[in-house]
Amino acid sequence: MSFLNENNQLNALIVGASQGIGLGFIKKILQDIRIAKVYATYRHPESATELFTLKDEHSDRLNCLPVDITYESQIIEFVEQIRTKIDKLHLVVNCVGLLHEGKVQPEKSLKQINPEHLLHYFQVNSIGAVLLAKHLLPLFRHSDRSVFATISAKIGSIGDNTLGGWYGYRASKAALNMFMKNVAIEYGRSSPQTLVVMLHPGTTDTRLSRPFQRNVPADKLFPIERTVTQLLAVIEQLQEGDSGQFFSWDGSKLPW
Ligand SMILES: NC(=O)c1ccc[n+]([C@@H]2O[C@H](COP(=O)([O-])OP(=O)(O)OC[C@H]3O[C@@H](n4cnc5c(N)ncnc54)[C@H](OP(=O)(O)O)[C@@H]3O)[C@@H](O)[C@H]2O)c1
Repeated sequence: MSFLNENNQLNALIVGASQGIGLGFIKKILQDIRIAKVYATYRHPESATELFTLKDEHSDRLNCLPVDITYESQIIEFVEQIRTKIDKLHLVVNCVGLLHEGKVQPEKSLKQINPEHLLHYFQVNSIGAVLLAKHLLPLFRHSDRSVFATISAKIGSIGDNTLGGWYGYRASKAALNMFMKNVAIEYGRSSPQTLVVMLHPGTTDTRLSRPFQRNVPADKLFPIERTVTQLLAVIEQLQEGDSGQFFSWDGSKLPW
């Protein structure tokens, strides 16, 4: 039995759908006949060409909207655009994340700590997600069951941190987890049928992991399609009471 309603006409939103795991979600949910409308966000058109091709092939179901989640004004604008078309969302997956971009690279030691880079990690990986939660709440105020998932990372688990390094990425994902735990509690009051969860995808073959794949055994590096299939299985198997939890790709719960 799936947590999401079997018979309903469901509406889904994937944030950060230009490439990587987000684009993988779009491909997979377009095959799901329960999903009536799919909203996909991208930041730069240059990296969203595959998404735009899908839009041409599925113009009746797929809508693409631009947003950089470090700007609250852009979040407000894209949510407003969705609200002119639909009044409820059933599945949201926030797939936005930053590990490296230009001069922002994961720190190996304290010597490499740069306050501006740290701030950028928090803006993209933590603050953007809580701003999404702030502005998407009206679209979750309905009586159907729904899921608001955010892709986090096991590396953001404080309890699991034995190696150190990657200060900005680790800390911004830990902050993301705390933000979304809080969101789960507040949504639990104003939108009690919405489950808010954090998901660890496992190391996945995307732009984000590419420079760091050398020491990853082949069977531990998932193709995007496998990751998305596994994460959708976790979402489908959610139970009432699972809101505010941090799940790994195999459905196990991760330590904070
Ligand atoms: N891949 C892994 O092994 C792995 C492991 C653990 C966790 N994760 C997490 O999984 C999620 C997806 O990562 P991925 O591997 O699919 O990485 P990816 O291929 O680099 O995709 C990241 C996505 O985030 C978007 N994005 C980045 N900054 C943004 C911003 N300021 N505003 C809006 N969108 C922005 C990118 O858009 P552009 O195309 O415009 O850059 C892209 O669509 C991330 O949260 C990541 O931390 C990944």
